[in-house]
Amino acid sequence: MSTLKPKRLGVIGCGNISTAYFKATQTFPILNIVACADLNKEAAKKAAETWNIEAVSVDDLLARDDIDIILNLTIPQAHASVTMQALKAGKHVHLEKPFALDRDEGKAVVDLAKSTGLRVSCAPDTFLGGGIQTCRKLLDDGAIGKVVAGTAFMMCPGHESWHPNPGFYYAKGGGPVFDMATYYLTALITLIGPVKAVSSVAATTYATRTITSEPRKGEIIPVEVPTHVSSTLVFHSGAIITMVMSFDVHRHSNHPIELHGENGSMQVPDPNTFGGEVKLSMNRRDDWHAQDLVNSYTDNMRGIGAADLAFAIINDRPQRCHSDMAFHVLDVMQAMHEASDTGTQVMIGSSCERPAPLPMGAAGGDLGD
Ligand SMILES: NC(=O)c1ccc[n+]([C@@H]2O[C@H](COP(=O)([O-])OP(=O)(O)OC[C@H]3O[C@@H](n4cnc5c(N)ncnc54)[C@H](O)[C@@H]3O)[C@@H](O)[C@H]2O)c1
Repeated sequence: MSTLKPKRLGVIGCGNISTAYFKATQTFPILNIVACADLNKEAAKKAAETWNIEAVSVDDLLARDDIDIILNLTIPQAHASVTMQALKAGKHVHLEKPFALDRDEGKAVVDLAKSTGLRVSCAPDTFLGGGIQTCRKLLDDGAIGKVVAGTAFMMCPGHESWHPNPGFYYAKGGGPVFDMATYYLTALITLIGPVKAVSSVAATTYATRTITSEPRKGEIIPVEVPTHVSSTLVFHSGAIITMVMSFDVHRHSNHPIELHGENGSMQVPDPNTFGGEVKLSMNRRDDWHAQDLVNSYTDNMRGIGAADLAFAIINDRPQRCHSDMAFHVLDVMQAMHEASDTGTQVMIGSSCERPAPLPMGAAGGDLGD
């Protein structure tokens, strides 16, 4: 167990996902949340009472000198502006996905972080879990040889049946690509490296959605983004991945990700989870064989990316959820929409290094450094 002095965190945005981050401090003692803020004062007050911290205004939170890192858990439409406010206030930032609404916003965040010398780290951090890290180890060890092809499927009926405030999922910055492809792309980039080119077709199947969850049940919300996007991604490694991201599908039985190498095939677990089964099959007469996972971060470990940022600052090494990768993912997501809008293949201008794998056996709140 680490004896390092914890980094002090302030949360901005005390909505649905914030609970997972408040809970993460119990798993990762390197994180100490001292205060929270929300445009909705009631939400901040409720979180503060639950987690025994202070509720303050956003301005007061940013002005405090006892906070090192801001956790930006606001909605996508506020991600870049809140991150830039925090950087200008001298704080490092870990934010929820997506990194920004478009390349211009994303570049402004990257440039500001570089000019201030502060760090920005961005979800998803699920790729640090035992599932994707096991796939990474197997691929790096050559278990299936060079990856030549693969498939990635996230298809569901959308979020208006469970999220209390689902409007943002159908505005710019939402949709199945910006909301969900971010998990699949981050996992794939971790596993096989950056993306070179994208082509897509897309549909906005329903012009509106009716909320069926409380408290806004019956309210009709506009759909401003494509909700079914079918893409082909060419990676710099040469791998060709077929990807379908959809909020228009009631049910399916495709595996979340499969990778096919020169010597065998791999089933990769759902990249929106930390664990799951990793399976290999070496030829078409062979069954699928489950593999032992390389680390024990397999439950809901949301916040592990913020813990990695805290260790990275202390140990002066790059954070694994680094902003170059988050920007590259954003660039590819924007390109998926541009490719369908224009009917052309879009070449990707950005690139990034694969984040370092977690050390084998990382457990118990430590990340092995
Ligand atoms: N809900 C999930 O299961 C889930 C899972 C993974 C990631 N995420 C991501 O986390 C982010 C937040 O999602 P959520 O479900 O918690 O949304 P939410 O709507 O429940 O909560 C967002 C909160 O941020 C506050 N907020 C918005 N703009 C703000 C600003 N400028 N300053 C201060 N507060 C502001 C809102 O008042 C609200 O309380 C989204 O980007 C989402 O994609 C959500």
